[in-house]
Amino acid sequence: MSGRVVLAYSGGLDTSVAVHWMRAELGLDVVAVAVDVGQGGDFEAIRTRALAAGAVEAVVVDGKEEFAQDFLVPALAANSLYEGRYPLVSALSRPFIVRHLVAEARRHGAGAVAHGCTGKGNDQVRFEVGTQSLAPDLDIIAPVRSWGMTREETIAYAEKHDLPITITRERIYSIDENLWGRTIECGILEDPWAAPPDDVWERSVERTTEPVDTVVGFTSGIPVTLDGSPLPLPQLISEMDRIAGSRGYGRIDMVEGRRVGIKSREIYECPAALSLIAAHSDLEGLTLERDLLHEKSRLEPRFSELTYDGMWFSPLREALSAFIESSQRHVTGEVRLRFTPGGGMQIVGRRSPHGLYDYDLATYDAADAFRHEDSEGFVRIFGLGVKTWAAKQGVNSRRDA
Ligand code: ARG
Repeated sequence: MSGRVVLAYSGGLDTSVAVHWMRAELGLDVVAVAVDVGQGGDFEAIRTRALAAGAVEAVVVDGKEEFAQDFLVPALAANSLYEGRYPLVSALSRPFIVRHLVAEARRHGAGAVAHGCTGKGNDQVRFEVGTQSLAPDLDIIAPVRSWGMTREETIAYAEKHDLPITITRERIYSIDENLWGRTIECGILEDPWAAPPDDVWERSVERTTEPVDTVVGFTSGIPVTLDGSPLPLPQLISEMDRIAGSRGYGRIDMVEGRRVGIKSREIYECPAALSLIAAHSDLEGLTLERDLLHEKSRLEPRFSELTYDGMWFSPLREALSAFIESSQRHVTGEVRLRFTPGGGMQIVGRRSPHGLYDYDLATYDAADAFRHEDSEGFVRIFGLGVKTWAAKQGVNSRRDA
């Protein structure tokens, strides 16, 4: 094989060794692409490390705004929680990174893209199915899956070739992060009975026991204000993360079904994602007509599964998103969240100019516009089918007796 490959580069051990290995073993020129999705870190240092590892080019993409608009907004609109609990942190960033890998592959005339995933996880599926969906002509290389080196051997490889890595011989956890949250795997966490040790938490560590009310404002399903102040979406998410996280809110501890057939124990901390999903779905309760709300909530788990499974660019995911987006027209208004010590969160208020809540209809007080006598006939006809059935049952059971 010869030519160019575009590698999704994180700056860690595996992808640094991958840069050198693809050059040495496959004879490829490696273009390293690091995408900033809000994981934090020094991207200039990451760029320098890629070049030092032997990349012919190192590109840093500041993707936070685009990631938030194009991936987090649709996921929030879908109240997206895989297996009812996981807000799809890594599952959302992978197709976004793929979009940029493919763009860089075109820009640099590369014939392949590469990633640093192992063979046991979901992320390989997302990188590869994503690439197949956007660029069926590109080859895919997964060095970490194919080189067969243990972690020890990978470190030895880096040392032998003088690659600039920060060596932690006993890596305790495997962590992935972006604006939407932080994922933690491996180490002691592989025992699903073992309580997560304190050192896994970062974003959801209680820093104050002061309860706080926070108001999130939405326009057509998109969060646009925090306590009345407009904020660009990435900042709004970070600020929400800080407020909720500093009250200890946002932790998830679950056993999850991977696409590759493995059950795995996962720890997540997603203060902003869980807060915003709770607020958004509450506002839908106020603003969406009943049938639309119910139908939408039946489609949401499918959206989450498709996203989890790396099917972001599939026609079904896109069609579901088109439906969901059209449902969001009137999801405008404000939701008040109350954070309490020990990681508690409650929605304590909501209001909307498009709210379907009508006090005069809902109240049990006083005279109102609702014509009570209409209910009598309505209920009789509504129950007519089961009444007829029940009467027949009586006849049948008497006959059987
Ligand atoms: N289990 C989660 C998922 O599949 C988290 C994956 C984290 N990825 C990682 N390379 N550490 O979405």
